Amino acid sequence: MTEQHQDAATTASNNTTHFGFKTVAAEEKVSMVAGVFHSVAAKYDVMNDLMSMGIHRLWKRFTIDCSGVRPGQKVLDLAGGTGDLTALFSRRVGPTGQVVLADINESMLNVGKDKLRDLGLVNNISYVQANAEALPFADNSFDIITIAFGLRNVTDKDAALRSMFRVLKPGGRLLVLEFSKPTQEWLSKVYDVYSFKLLPAIGQLVANDRESYQYLAESIRMHPDQATLQQMMDTAGFAQTSYHNLTGGIVALHRGYKF
Ligand SMILES: C[S@@+](CC[C@H](N)C(=O)[O-])C[C@H]1O[C@@H](n2cnc3c(N)ncnc32)[C@H](O)[C@@H]1O
Repeated sequence: MTEQHQDAATTASNNTTHFGFKTVAAEEKVSMVAGVFHSVAAKYDVMNDLMSMGIHRLWKRFTIDCSGVRPGQKVLDLAGGTGDLTALFSRRVGPTGQVVLADINESMLNVGKDKLRDLGLVNNISYVQANAEALPFADNSFDIITIAFGLRNVTDKDAALRSMFRVLKPGGRLLVLEFSKPTQEWLSKVYDVYSFKLLPAIGQLVANDRESYQYLAESIRMHPDQATLQQMMDTAGFAQTSYHNLTGGIVALHRGYKF
């Protein structure tokens, strides 16, 4: 366990947790995260393209390619937000399959619903407002679960991983796409300048919302690194866990199976 995550785990046991760099009461974090995503929902897609220079589309395509998804399967796109992964999965599972887009935030879900309907994707998608920590689905329901850039925002990540494990079918796989730790020192330095100086400024300019993008940068730094997240997935019960660094470890795709 890294020093950083140990610290997070210790404070969590005192009923406090992190909201970016701030220490807050665990029960406060949910509403603070909700505030961020209510605030960014309308501009979320534009900002994603801007901030990543479109690269988030490649990370998401890679996730779909690693999912092994087949026609007829049932997929949970957890913390699915505005539905990028849902749209890609919907086409792959076809009319006999099903994709559930679940998110805790009504504003993000509404933007997602409108976008997917505009794309003509209506027949095999359902929408559920749910907290990843306590998923409202039966045991062994899904062939594939993805959570993209969502786990970082969850208060009790271990509870969320256990909940995902419970609703995954035996033989199913979980994919966690999330910001992680750059593998090169020089990249870390460039990335720090980008995240803490440029990102909040772009947020202010485009979305008139500096604070949400400051939170984004801070929450990325507080998230467990590659090895720690892999260990957390092992502890939740996942087998054959592994991860693949993308863009020098700025992002990592973790994978695990339920047997
Ligand atoms: C950065 S967005 C990612 C959206 C989408 N997956 C993507 O990759 O573009 C994070 C999403 O996680 C959702 N979220 C945060 N905490 C959550 C929780 N405890 N349970 C479910 N969703 C949550 C937010 O509402 C938000 O829509």
